Amino acid sequence: MGEIKRVGVIGAGQMGNGIAQVFATKGVHVAMLDVNDDALKKGLSTIQKSLSKLVEKGKLEPPMMGMALGHVALTTDYAALKDRDLIIEAATENLDLKREIFRQIDEVAKDGAILATNTSSISITTLAAGTKRPASFIGMHFMNPVPLMQLVEVIRGLDTDDATFSTIMELATSLGKTPVACNDFPGFVANRILLPMINEAVYALMEGVADAQSIDQIMKLGMNHPMGPLSLADLIGLDTCLAIMQVLHRDLGDSKYRPCPLLKKYVDAGHLGRKTGRGFYKYD
Ligand code: CAA
Repeated sequence: MGEIKRVGVIGAGQMGNGIAQVFATKGVHVAMLDVNDDALKKGLSTIQKSLSKLVEKGKLEPPMMGMALGHVALTTDYAALKDRDLIIEAATENLDLKREIFRQIDEVAKDGAILATNTSSISITTLAAGTKRPASFIGMHFMNPVPLMQLVEVIRGLDTDDATFSTIMELATSLGKTPVACNDFPGFVANRILLPMINEAVYALMEGVADAQSIDQIMKLGMNHPMGPLSLADLIGLDTCLAIMQVLHRDLGDSKYRPCPLLKKYVDAGHLGRKTGRGFYKYD
């Protein structure tokens, strides 16, 4: 892992726990931070389930599971991050929340630490400008489910320096992922393209073009997508999908990015996808 020996991950939710798992599986010590013990326990239990699944499928040697779990520490205290070489924020997709998190990270992180965000769409340059170290700030965007997906989108802010960029590119490669660099524009590449497709699928549902199953089946069988767009929206989380569309709409200023009212309605109802047991589909 080169110079990155100890990592901090902010957020024990689906992205945060996945990121922590990927580092721990490679023998990197991870401190996973969240606001309370319940969130941390839930995150750790997701890691345990995911590792068991990988062992069951022969993708991970059984002793590696204990090794990986031994490399994850849980904390609610930012002071636990003071010796970290890299701190990755993977909190909810909300600018004010992320700014506040980076304010706290900036207070405790050691000199030379790299600060990264897993944001899906928010400006890296804006988040970096709120810290004392924009040159060491970068976007490191993992895909969901993190342990299974190959891509890491690496996004330089306006002031990110070359050393930070090359460290993160090499690190992603040593995690067994494929890093791909892109520039700092709303939604970067992945969500600039993926989310308008999902949003359009929700419009098709709202307008009665077809039911949810049919829309998904058409995109799976016709386009060879592993999942249909509505089922993928449920996996990502409808609140996250809406937040990304709002960033695209506001920051690119084009009405083609307006979020579908039906997407907003589901979020208002608290039907956020798999994580709440109901989105466009119902889950046990
Ligand atoms: N850890 C370990 N195993 C996992 C897992 C995890 N986190 N998540 C799923 N699995 C397991 C499943 O439980 C399943 O096991 P079983 O076969 O025993 O049931 C196995 O992996 C394979 O799952 P599937 O049978 O569903 O097979 P699949 O070939 O469809 O693979 C998938 C699953 C990788 C999720 C695939 O459906 C896929 O690639 N879907 C698209 C995912 C995608 O587009 N992700 C990007 C989202 S966008 C994003 O993340 C960016 C953002 O900012 C919003």
